[in-house]
Amino acid sequence: MHRTWNHARICGRSEGELSSVDSPNSMAKRHYVTTPIYYVNSVPHVGHALTMMCCDVEKRYRELLGEDPYFLTGTDENGLKVMTAAQEAGEDPMAFVDRISETFRVCADLLNVDYDVFFRTTSDQHRKAAQALFERIRDNGYIFQDKYEGWYDISAETFVKESEIVDGKSPDGNEVTWVEEENWFFKLSAFEKPLLDKIESEPDWLLPHTRKNEVVSFIKQGLRDICITRANPGWGIPVPGDETKVIYVWFDALINYLAATGWPDAGWEELWPADVHWMAKEIFTRFHATLWPAMLMAAELPLPKAVVAHGWFVFRDGKMSKSRGNVIAAEELVKYYQEMAGCAHDLAVDVVRWSLIRSFPFEGDTDYSKFEVANLYNSELVNDFGNALNRGLSMAHKFADGVVPDAPIDSEMIAAIEKAKTDYTVYMDGHRLSDAAGAALDLVRALNKYVDDKAPWAMAKNEDPALPSVIRTMLFVCRASEGMLRPVIPAACDAVARQLNLEPLTKWSDIGTEASLPVGTKLNQPEPIFPRLDKKIMEQLKQGDAPAEQPKAEKPVKKDKQKFEPPAEIEFPDFMKVNLKVARVIEAEPVEGSDKLMKLQVKIGDESRQIVAGIKKVYAPEDLIGRQVVVVYNLKPAKLMGIESQGMVLAADDADGNAILLQPDKEAPEGSSVH
Ligand code: MSP
Repeated sequence: MHRTWNHARICGRSEGELSSVDSPNSMAKRHYVTTPIYYVNSVPHVGHALTMMCCDVEKRYRELLGEDPYFLTGTDENGLKVMTAAQEAGEDPMAFVDRISETFRVCADLLNVDYDVFFRTTSDQHRKAAQALFERIRDNGYIFQDKYEGWYDISAETFVKESEIVDGKSPDGNEVTWVEEENWFFKLSAFEKPLLDKIESEPDWLLPHTRKNEVVSFIKQGLRDICITRANPGWGIPVPGDETKVIYVWFDALINYLAATGWPDAGWEELWPADVHWMAKEIFTRFHATLWPAMLMAAELPLPKAVVAHGWFVFRDGKMSKSRGNVIAAEELVKYYQEMAGCAHDLAVDVVRWSLIRSFPFEGDTDYSKFEVANLYNSELVNDFGNALNRGLSMAHKFADGVVPDAPIDSEMIAAIEKAKTDYTVYMDGHRLSDAAGAALDLVRALNKYVDDKAPWAMAKNEDPALPSVIRTMLFVCRASEGMLRPVIPAACDAVARQLNLEPLTKWSDIGTEASLPVGTKLNQPEPIFPRLDKKIMEQLKQGDAPAEQPKAEKPVKKDKQKFEPPAEIEFPDFMKVNLKVARVIEAEPVEGSDKLMKLQVKIGDESRQIVAGIKKVYAPEDLIGRQVVVVYNLKPAKLMGIESQGMVLAADDADGNAILLQPDKEAPEGSSVH
């Protein structure tokens, strides 16, 4: 079916094709992914770009699988705070929202974010759907009139209970205003049990599980009916049949996901229900995991299939925000990698894309800084990825006349590709995007190790007849990695295809097939895709990032260690306060600039955590990966050298005070408690 929108506030990818929901051949349900729609009272930064990137990578992964996904992003424009921001800027609100909304679209376009629709809540389509849904819920008996007397936090656009006010401020620390109005209310309380039943019956509906648990306890505390209208200030969507009121901005904004499908007009089932709503944690519990599904239940409409919340990027003074002045704009980073590293524009964009996905805060929060980005760049894109491609092609030119040789592909690397594909699929399907990219990167690392082990240069010297086989295997793995890395770094993958002199590999089923790299292909010359950032630049970046934090961070570790004297005796309940668990180290990486610290990613049951441990002097990353350790699970997170540590690994001291890690006597189930 084909749908043409009549309003320029809804923008598709290309001019003249405004947000058409095209599916030429059938009405098959399309995989529908969404970001939150962003408030237009602020400028876009890498935090907003992060959620755009989640959806973009998921969309590109679905395309790789041969599906026809649909991706929505856009802007939330009807709130009181948007109107206030326009007034403060001395601008007409409509002109203001047009201007700021455009900056979000520009940010998405800059980062090669392949959205299908950029949806705006000031569009006619949205207004129509929001009013229709309001009416439908009212007709179903879940909206009623009453008087609202209470506090409103304009900044967070939320109603605040008296008991939540601290020092005259809302729980988010914002100013509150007293509101006394006759209003419309939504019977949220009616959905306590249906929501809990849904959560219980579908364990992966709300992800990650740690956040799902927060939702469960939030609902169990009791859901109050909520006020869903405000006095009409001349901005917003009027309540159908009551022009004196506008629909509360959250009630209105959430409807965007449904409105963009064309609902209530025919054809909306082609997209709805959404397959995944992505957002960060602050708008998960109250809005996307409670209010929105309750609204849909009240309207007797299907619920989204998954609601997934990531953590925050934090930088210097906490969550990145314009008011804290710690914002990093994606544009600035792209420019940096063009100018300082000498990357081509589309590859500099890939650097930012890669950094967003690899720093991805799925469970906790992560630091995002220019130095971190540079670390990821040099270690993963330059050392691992660039190196593998460069070695493969250079050696093919040197030892095989620049042609893919006709020789067997090493079964060891065929198995590595299969493993990477399996891991990648599991991670992608579980929305663990950083881990999925990590699985592709592991394949690249396995290739680099394979090359080191085989040492083709020595094979050539010894005239080893297996050399052509090693060369073909190297190129074969480069080709497979091209396919797997494509959703995250598409431009770099195009460059790999160009250097291999092949069409881009765009089908999942082609990854790891002999046909994907035909024997006899004449290869192009290798060209470095990602030039290394030199030490001096790294040093400058390190100085520039979070200058106050670094000296502060290491001190407590030293002090605590020297001074710590355990009390002679403790009571058993004191001991029981410490929750010890068995974990497995999944990744280990030395912290640059520290003699002692190693950054570990550990798995504790289903959960992943990051732990920074003072073991760098004694253990190399390869000694740690795969090893079981014992961790203090309920230790309050702390920052070491600006890196969040979400626990502590247990170790004994040797005679020189160096760490000796504790490890279970034999393999223990991951996550099992230690007592
Ligand atoms: N307009 C509402 C959402 C309505 S959806 C129906 C809103 N807008 S927002 O502009 O504040 O965007 C919040 C979202 O932006 C987060 O949920 C997250 O997706 C993204 N992020 C903004 N800053 C971020 C970080 N520092 N870190 C991670 N994500 C961030 O809330």
